[in-house]
Amino acid sequence: MKYLGNVVNAFKVLSGTYLKEGMTVLDATCGNGNDSLYLKKLIGTRGVLYAVDIQEDAISATRRLFEEHGFVEDEALKLVLGSHDDLSFLEISDRLLDLAVYNLGFLPKGNKQITTEYDTTLKSLEQVLNYLKSGGLVFVLCYVGHDSGKLEAEHLGRFLTTLDQKFFDVARFEFVNQKNDPPLMWIVEKK
Ligand SMILES: C[S@@+](CC[C@H](N)C(=O)[O-])C[C@H]1O[C@@H](n2cnc3c(N)ncnc32)[C@H](O)[C@@H]1O
Repeated sequence: MKYLGNVVNAFKVLSGTYLKEGMTVLDATCGNGNDSLYLKKLIGTRGVLYAVDIQEDAISATRRLFEEHGFVEDEALKLVLGSHDDLSFLEISDRLLDLAVYNLGFLPKGNKQITTEYDTTLKSLEQVLNYLKSGGLVFVLCYVGHDSGKLEAEHLGRFLTTLDQKFFDVARFEFVNQKNDPPLMWIVEKK
């Protein structure tokens, strides 16, 4: 793995220095399960991972990947088929999550028509910010090389840049010398 080079690596580097065994994490777009597996390895068997995706194919791929790596679905590894704007599966009081990640867009090698959409993503983010522990982080990776990604970036950017500084710090991470609309990433830290 390159140290940086793209936003996914940057997300891994930053979350890798932050996550500890036993923490609780939400992967709001688990896709093929790569990010989920990375996170679960860091939080260990005691740490709780919720992995959500709207597509059955994605949940199956994630399940397969975990099985290949010797993880079983249990109270600490929950794969959820559904849209991330309904977080009722969390079954918890407030301030639970240490970290949430949204790796937006469509399933690589999957149906490009099924992609995250800004209104749903916004609804989800609003809820996640409430569920986040003090000191918790949210990573939002956005692919602006296609039209719906551009629109999503516009709306998410507006929402995130106006979050009250009393409660959140928000950073925007992007590679400024890469050609062809490189993806960008926001990182939110709850105070
Ligand atoms: C770029 S992929 C995620 C990549 C993934 N994290 C990985 O490591 O392979 C984006 C995923 O978002 C999912 N998605 C789209 N809309 C969604 C929604 N409303 N709720 C949850 N997942 C959604 C897609 O099905 C797709 O699998």
